[in-house]
Amino acid sequence: MAKVDVLLGEKRTFYPPKEMVSQSNVKQWMDAHDIPDIETLYQRSQDIEWFWGEVEKDLVQWYSPYDKVLDSSDAPFFHWFTNSKYNIVHDALDRHMGTPTQDKVAYIFESEQGNVSTLTYRDLYNEVNRVANGLKGLGVGKGDRVALYMPMIPALPIAMLACARIGAVHSVVFSGFSPHALQDRIKDSGAKVLITADGFWRKGKVINLKTLADEAVKDTGIEHTICYAWAQCDVPMRKHDMWWDELVKGQPTECETELMDPDDPLFILYTSGTTGKPKGVVHVHTYSVGIALTLKWVFDLKPDDIWWCTADIGWITGHSYIVYAPLMLGTTSVLYEGAPAHPEPNRQWEMIARHGVTVFYTSPTSIRMHMRFGDEWTQKDDMSCLRLLGTVGEPINPEAWMWFYENIGKRRCPIMDTWWQTETGCFVISPLPVLPLKPGSATRPLPGFNAEVHDSDNKAVVDEGGSLVLTSPWPSMLHTLYNEPRRYVEHYWNENHDFVSGDIARVDSDGYFWVQGRGDDVLNVSGHRIGNSEVESALVSHPLVSEAAVVGRPDDIKGESIAAFVSLKMGVEPGDELVKTLRDHVAREIGKIARPDVIYFVNDLPKTRSGKIMRRIVRSALISKEVGDISTLANPEAVKEIEDVLSKNK
Ligand code: WTA
Repeated sequence: MAKVDVLLGEKRTFYPPKEMVSQSNVKQWMDAHDIPDIETLYQRSQDIEWFWGEVEKDLVQWYSPYDKVLDSSDAPFFHWFTNSKYNIVHDALDRHMGTPTQDKVAYIFESEQGNVSTLTYRDLYNEVNRVANGLKGLGVGKGDRVALYMPMIPALPIAMLACARIGAVHSVVFSGFSPHALQDRIKDSGAKVLITADGFWRKGKVINLKTLADEAVKDTGIEHTICYAWAQCDVPMRKHDMWWDELVKGQPTECETELMDPDDPLFILYTSGTTGKPKGVVHVHTYSVGIALTLKWVFDLKPDDIWWCTADIGWITGHSYIVYAPLMLGTTSVLYEGAPAHPEPNRQWEMIARHGVTVFYTSPTSIRMHMRFGDEWTQKDDMSCLRLLGTVGEPINPEAWMWFYENIGKRRCPIMDTWWQTETGCFVISPLPVLPLKPGSATRPLPGFNAEVHDSDNKAVVDEGGSLVLTSPWPSMLHTLYNEPRRYVEHYWNENHDFVSGDIARVDSDGYFWVQGRGDDVLNVSGHRIGNSEVESALVSHPLVSEAAVVGRPDDIKGESIAAFVSLKMGVEPGDELVKTLRDHVAREIGKIARPDVIYFVNDLPKTRSGKIMRRIVRSALISKEVGDISTLANPEAVKEIEDVLSKNK
C-alpha cells in the first residue's frame, strides 16, 4: 500500500489528452473571453461578480433581469441575482420546446429487470405539466412543501420538476430511509402532500415502499399521499390516497410556470449534522447557475454525450447532476433503477457499452467494490465509448483511482474527482479536463470558487492538515437551513465569513487539495453522511440501552464503517441476539445505511466530569491509536474496559 502511495500520490501526474484540452468547453469560453491560459482564468475569476455575471449569460434565461449579481450586505445570508424573476424549470424544460432538443432523449431509463424506455424532452415536459396541474388541483401552490419518497424511476424527476414549476418546495427523502426518518423530515418541513410509489426492485426483490410511507405519515400533516404504480405490488389505498394516474387524468399538458424571486426556495434536502436532528439545507432556483456551469466545464458535456451519474436522486448529487443540470444543458442521461452489480458484477459495464455512455460519474465505494470482484469482470464489455470519468462522495485512495483509470478508462479517460457537499450544491474543488491530475487529489477550487485550509487560529496553511473553508460565496450555495437561520449562521460561518465545510484537508505547494475526511462528528459510510449522534440516539431509543458511543473505523471498501459501544440497562444480559436486535433497531429507526457493523457491550463509556461521552477517546482505542491524556476523565477505567473488550473480540 505504502509503495503505491509513493508511486501515485503527489509524485505522479497524469495529463489529459491534447484534443480534449483544445476542444473543451472551458477552453472555448476562455477563447471567447480572450483569456490566454488557465492560470489567467483562475486569476480573473477571483472577481466573482464579474465571473458569475459573465457565465450566467450562456446558461440561464431570466423572466426579468437581475439588478446585482451578488448582494453581500446581509452576510452570511447572501443574495444572488437580486430582484430577478426566474424559474429553473424554464431552463430545464421550457426553453427546449420548439428547438431540436425537444425531440432529444432526456432519460434512457433502465429498470433493474432490464426493461429500457426513453423519455424525450417533450415527453418530460408534457408529463411534468400534467403532474403540476394535478398538484394544483389538490391545492398545492407556491411555497408549499411536498415530500417525495420514491425509487430511481422517471416519475421522481417528473415530480420534482412539477413541484418546481408551480413554486412548491420539494423535499426528497432517500427511499432507503426508514419510515421513522421520513416521518421526522415530513414533520420538520410541514409537507402536506407525499408522493411515493407502490414499490421498486432491489437485487431481484420488490421493496414495498408504500407500506413504509403509510407508517411514516401517521401523526403528520400529510393530507394526500399520491402513489405511482411501478412494481405492481399489493398496496393498501386509504382515504385521501390517490394513484398518480388519477392525479394526472385529463390534466392538460401545459401549465403556467410560477415566477420566482431570488430567495424563494426550490428544495429542502436534509443532511446529517453533528446533533441528532438533520439539517434542512435550502437551495433556491438560481442555484442553477452554479450547477450548470460546473457540469458543463468539469464533465465537458457536448450535445452527443451520454451521461451517467450513478448516484441516487435522494442525495444532492442526484438533484444537481441527474435532474437539474443535465436537463439545463439538454443532455441525454442514463437513469437506472436498481443495484449496481446485479445480477452480475458487470451490470454497469455492460450498460455503459450497450447505451454508449461517454461520461461516467460514480463513487469510490462502488469502485472499491468492483476491484474486489476481480478485473476480469471489466474485460467482458467494450467500453471504448467512454471519454471521461468522475468520482464523488468520499476521498478516493490512489489505488482505487488507478484501478478505475486502467480498468474502466483504459488509460484514456481523465478522472474528475469532484469535492463538494449538499450545502455547496455544486462541485467546488475539482479538476477541469484541461488540468494535470494527481491521483487522490480533487485538485484546485474551480474558477469562481475560493478555498483555503485553516489552522485552529483561522490562518491559511500550506502542507499541513486543517479545516477546509470556502472564502468567497458562490451562486449555488445553500440559502439557509429550513426554519433554523440561527443554526445556519452558527454552524457554517466563522467570524471572517468563511464557510466552514466540516472537512479536514491539506493543500500542497502546487495548490492541490487533498481532502482527508470529516473533521466533525459526522461519519462518511460509502459516501453517505451519517451523524454519530443520530445513530447514538437511535440506539438509546431502544428500551434495553442505557448509553451509546458511535464511532467510525477505516474500512477497505466503504471508506468508513460504523462501530457502536453500548452500555445496557441494569440487569440486561448482552449477547449475539441483542446485537442483532440493536442493529435491526437502528435500521428501522434511520435506514439500513446507518446499521452499525459491530456492536460492543461495555459497562461504562469514558466521560468528562460534566458527563459528556468522549467519542474521540473511544475511537482512538478502537483504531489502536494512543488515547492520550485521560486523567481529566470522570471514569478513566472505562477506557481500560474498552481496550479489554476490543482485545477479546479481535
Ligand atoms: C465528502 C456529496 C473527498 C466530504 C456531494 C463532504 C468528498 C461530504 C468528496 C459531503 C471528494 C464529497 N473527496 N471527500 N471528492 N466529495 N466528499 O453532502 O466529506 O452527501 O463534506 O455531498 O462528502 O457529502 P454530501
